[in-house]
Amino acid sequence: MCGIVGYIGNGNVYDILIKGLHRLEYRGYDSAGLALEGEDGKLKVYKSKGKVSNLEEYCKDKSLDAKVGIAHTRWATHGEPSDCNAHPHYSEDGKLALVHNGTIENYKVLKDALMQHGCTFHSETDTEVLVQLIEYIKVKNNCSLVDAVREALNQVVGAYAIAVIEKEHPDTIVAARQSSPLVIGIGEDETFLASDATPFVEYTKEAVYLNDGEIAVIKQGEPLKILKLDNSESKIDVKTLELSISQLEKGGFPHFMLKEIFEQPSTLKTCIRGRVVDDGRRIHINGINDHKDTFLNAKRIVIVACGTSWHAALLGKYLIQDMCKIPVEVEYASEFRYSNPVLDNRDVVIAISQSGETADTLAAAKIARKMGAFVYGISNSVGSSIPRETDSGTYLHVGPEIGVASTKAFTGQVMVLTLLALGVAQLRGTMESDQIAEIGKEILRIPDYVEKVLKLNEKIERLSLIYTYARNFLYLGRGYSYPVALEGALKLKEISYIHAEGYPAAEMKHGPIALIDAEMPSVIIAPNDHLYEKIVSNVQQVKARGGNIIAIVTEGDTVIRNIADHVLEVPPMPECLTPIITSIPLQLLSYYIAINKGKDVDMPRNLAKSVTVE
Ligand code: F6R
Repeated sequence: MCGIVGYIGNGNVYDILIKGLHRLEYRGYDSAGLALEGEDGKLKVYKSKGKVSNLEEYCKDKSLDAKVGIAHTRWATHGEPSDCNAHPHYSEDGKLALVHNGTIENYKVLKDALMQHGCTFHSETDTEVLVQLIEYIKVKNNCSLVDAVREALNQVVGAYAIAVIEKEHPDTIVAARQSSPLVIGIGEDETFLASDATPFVEYTKEAVYLNDGEIAVIKQGEPLKILKLDNSESKIDVKTLELSISQLEKGGFPHFMLKEIFEQPSTLKTCIRGRVVDDGRRIHINGINDHKDTFLNAKRIVIVACGTSWHAALLGKYLIQDMCKIPVEVEYASEFRYSNPVLDNRDVVIAISQSGETADTLAAAKIARKMGAFVYGISNSVGSSIPRETDSGTYLHVGPEIGVASTKAFTGQVMVLTLLALGVAQLRGTMESDQIAEIGKEILRIPDYVEKVLKLNEKIERLSLIYTYARNFLYLGRGYSYPVALEGALKLKEISYIHAEGYPAAEMKHGPIALIDAEMPSVIIAPNDHLYEKIVSNVQQVKARGGNIIAIVTEGDTVIRNIADHVLEVPPMPECLTPIITSIPLQLLSYYIAINKGKDVDMPRNLAKSVTVE
């Protein structure tokens, strides 16, 4: 939610900030703005409602000369998307400009107090309160910017990543973090800061991830200084980035989403690499091997996640219960955190998050850890908050996911959960070694299976034309295909704005069946698994009521082929691996329907990729 960028150095400040904002646009695109300070001693603030391209248009005839700058792309929380509510916000006397990602929960109390001291406010945002508070403290105490920021942050309750610049000292950026990400890029005679490393990866590979409660003082010509809220100094831990610039480009595809769908053979290969060894006979996951006793003694596993990651979590339940015989509960992180969870040190809590920054998942992980549970993180984003707040974990290694609708991260999450379940089963002896080997061998072939399924692309594109103008869709599946149905429906909703519901196929007859008519297509995920006969009945029930059916079936299926209106065939494979394969035609179907409707699939309305607010 919201992306921030900052730069100080001899490069072209405006170009660096704008390029950085484009990279962070996945975090929000309701408005964008920047503040520049140059040798002319002026603090120039330009803002515009809408995407970063609107800001660029607005800046065309403006003075852009600068030595330092901060910039912001917004996902609105307090106050509608508008020029006025766009960041940066500046102080009453116009001497400070600030950008913020997060929410200030006690902003109302602070605002009332500042108004009593004569401050006037121009926006509806919580952020303006913060910049006014910093300025108020600075004037009252006649102190430096960093001292004023520290005192202000000690009064603030909430989440923030901020960057502040000051008219009188155009050689310094003060930045701070609490529960919202911030990373500093150290170049030669130049320093960057951003919500993630993507804005500066082509300039430097040296990065410092700020921790909660830290304030960075970035001063031109001086080494980086990091202080804590109690004014003690923090050690600087420089990490080397593994990100490459080609991972951040569309590589000839019209959209990141399509690129990411087509990347799946290679992302799954990377995700599996080194984790399935001895020709598939052994599973090797460091995060488990380093904590064998924990997994041997675990009495229960609780998985917390949001959105698409929650759908992967639900698959995790099926996988772990089937393979490890450990009871598993799956919770929405946002509900779990406020549900007075009962946990102890024999519980393992798995927190799944592509971004590693989702506020609810992060909070759930912290609560679980505080209660003594062992917390295991599954994330895609190296150095993000969740992996840093957990006892152990596994990265997806599927590369940065930029399209707002999750695709390759979902299949990566399901793959990691499959490997985790197999790894724990191997450890606890709940599966025979030849059963593990049989699945392990098939896992090594998954990239080839995905390649084959992607050949359905043109067929799905043609099929999408028939259903572009449907107003409602039903997605049905049983067993391992039920979470796939939920995920298929979510994909369609979020990028095409068509209402879609995912349902366990057998539950349909308890209500949703009333909706079925010729106007409402059903997408039925029906691979040849142990529930096949059951789902054939559900397919017949839909057809008997005049519904149109798109079915995902296993190659060679003849029964459903004769009932459904359209079939999409996937290769045969062990039941536990089918979700990775059957979810891919659904990603493509959503993509093409959204494209036919002229929607912006990479930046769907109201959404953001990294949800750092509750
Ligand atoms: C949907 C989607 C979201 C995310 C959710 C959690 O395509 O991307 O539903 O899955 O916001 O995000 P992470 O996984 O980053 O915690």
